[in-house]
Amino acid sequence: MEKKNIDWANLGFAYRTTEARYVANYKDGEWSEGEITDNANIVLNECAGILQYCQEVFEGMKAYTTVDGRIVCFRPDLNATRMEDSARRMEMPPFPAERFLDAIDQVVKANAAYVPPYGTGASLYIRPYMFASSPVIGVKPAQEYQFRVFVTPVGPYFKDGVKPLTICVSDFDRAAPRGTGHIKAGLNYAMSLHAHVVAHQNGFDENMFLDSATRTYVEETGGANFLFVDKEGNIVIPKSDSILPSITRRSLTVVAAEILGLNVIERPVRLDELSDFAECGVCGTAAVICPVGKVVDHGKEICFPSGMEKMGPVIQKLYDTLTGIQMGTVEGPEGWIRTIVE
Ligand code: PLP
Ligand code: COI
Repeated sequence: MEKKNIDWANLGFAYRTTEARYVANYKDGEWSEGEITDNANIVLNECAGILQYCQEVFEGMKAYTTVDGRIVCFRPDLNATRMEDSARRMEMPPFPAERFLDAIDQVVKANAAYVPPYGTGASLYIRPYMFASSPVIGVKPAQEYQFRVFVTPVGPYFKDGVKPLTICVSDFDRAAPRGTGHIKAGLNYAMSLHAHVVAHQNGFDENMFLDSATRTYVEETGGANFLFVDKEGNIVIPKSDSILPSITRRSLTVVAAEILGLNVIERPVRLDELSDFAECGVCGTAAVICPVGKVVDHGKEICFPSGMEKMGPVIQKLYDTLTGIQMGTVEGPEGWIRTIVE
């Protein structure tokens, strides 16, 4: 298979159309067989549930080329079950996990020419999603849905790659205590866009959202979870029911405890204790692990000792081990890597 002629090393995090995507439809209480199509466009009724009441959930994952030339995916079973959970919370029919995995395999295989080669730093971003496709005008769940998966080759999520970020404490809230912050629904992202634009206008890379009930505890950014390293070298993970249970963060927890022998503490993290930490990072499929150099809370700067030039030593170790597992240079726990093309 010949790769596409793409400048892999200079890719940003942007959408480009590839040749194949997967589509299945839910109608009369069941999912259709599903197929690969070359049509990137969707025609919908003007009153479709997604357009009126935002009934949509999605996932984000990546395929990589390993050092020995395989195309693999990292823990897609967890994306499959998280999407089932998201769908149930949004009163949508879950797309069965087994079929989700098969759809990912089919789309990645069909787009193998777009999977960036090993060593380029790029990967193939995979976006499974489903939405209400039939008309609804009274506020209620739709009757029909569509599940799709497309892929797009991507580089780093943040424009300066893994240079430390400057993050501001947002004046806006992302998720309510008993709301939808813990699922991957497009509506969570729609409501974060204003905060995102304001943060960028003010020269920040990202927002730090706080718990909306008390605005005391650290939650997450618009697209990644936080992790901290304390001055004793322990990993500290913010605990909250209104943040997305990041698969990257859950994996890093295992890497830290079982491979690197670090102590991992999951607990609520107060904004006013940030200055006690040695390192801070954000993690997610798109972000991988990106160091945070500085958090700005309404003019008050909290600068982490790891500085603004490079990753701190603990976050660097986590980054090297996680990306090593994904690229096949480090042995990971059993079942973490799904080989799609040998
Ligand atoms: N938090 C939010 C709000 C996200 O959108 C994402 C991205 O998926 C994450 C965290 C990281 O989750 P994961 O590691 O599963 O990609
Ligand atoms: C991901 O990390 O996969 C996400 O979905 C985050 C998104 C903001 C790009």
